Amino acid sequence: MPTAQDLTRAASLLRDCQLVAFPTETVYGLGGDARSDIAVARIFAAKNRPTFNPLIIHVPDLATAQTYAQFSPLALDLAARFWPGPLTLVLPLIGGRLSALATAGLRTVAIRIPAHPTAQALLHAAGIPLAAPSANPSGKISPTTAAHVAAGLTGRIAAILDGGPCAVGLESTILALDPHPTLLRPGGLPSELIEPVTGPLAAPGPQITATHVTSPGQLASHYAPNAPLRLNATQAQPGETLIGFGPIPGDLTLSAEGDLTEAAANLFATLRTADGLAGPDGRIAIAPIPHQDLGRAINDRLNRAAAPRRPPLIPFICS
Ligand code: TXA
Ligand code: MG
Repeated sequence: MPTAQDLTRAASLLRDCQLVAFPTETVYGLGGDARSDIAVARIFAAKNRPTFNPLIIHVPDLATAQTYAQFSPLALDLAARFWPGPLTLVLPLIGGRLSALATAGLRTVAIRIPAHPTAQALLHAAGIPLAAPSANPSGKISPTTAAHVAAGLTGRIAAILDGGPCAVGLESTILALDPHPTLLRPGGLPSELIEPVTGPLAAPGPQITATHVTSPGQLASHYAPNAPLRLNATQAQPGETLIGFGPIPGDLTLSAEGDLTEAAANLFATLRTADGLAGPDGRIAIAPIPHQDLGRAINDRLNRAAAPRRPPLIPFICS
């Protein structure tokens, strides 16, 4: 865990518009001052993100959240039940104080209160809202340890706070409430826990296209290991590294007990390990994961990781 001195230094870097990676209960975030266009531009540059997607704003408490977003009675109810924790709410923005780059000029804002003690301590020490996407190069596997962050972003960011492995291991669930409760991204808070409060959740509509992405990781290939990934495998084919689950042992396993919470926490680190075992020409296969509770978010990430890769951009050569 970071010392008080580490936190003071990290807070001061953030107030100077530098970038600090920090642990949350979901994944490590790459934090920058959410009020500053410069700091937010540095986040996109460090991640090499191809598009300026809106970012999630992290705040320490509900009172602070209410200075940036309008809370309906339903939003307050959800906040009371699930914050701090792995839920992001998309709410009407209270304008003027956040970087327009952080919110992509939208009239809404995605906001959450992380539960990790180091994230809480950092937000309190910095005293500013933090825009924080996952702390990985764009398109790559999200980091669940400080070493994963260092492997992807060393030399591009000012500091990394090490708070140990992330307990949840999947990004937050993103929920829009207007005009009706809609699941924009399955994540660390299962929809089975949300629907008793909101009623049935709608799926995001057809507004999500290659040019208009309203929620995270909705570009097809995302969270991708380097090796190709085959889903719902019960056995390894020649040349494959098999990731098991429950009764399917595999070369590695997400959870020998078939526990979805353990599998979520292990997912990204196991994909990285399998990538290492597979080597440059290897392939990865993974056992079926039940489509319930955290299994929905795990399958969402696996489907994206297995999706065809975007073709590389062909440089245009002027003569
Ligand atoms: O668990 C998490 O949520 C992690 C940790 C670090 O907190 N953060 C994270 O942030 O996953 P990021 O930037 O990868 O995901 C942000 C996503 C964007 O892709 C965006 O589409 C969606 O949240 N989002 C942000 N603002 C939005 C808005 N106003 N309306 C709809 N979606 C929004
Ligand atoms: Mg991400």
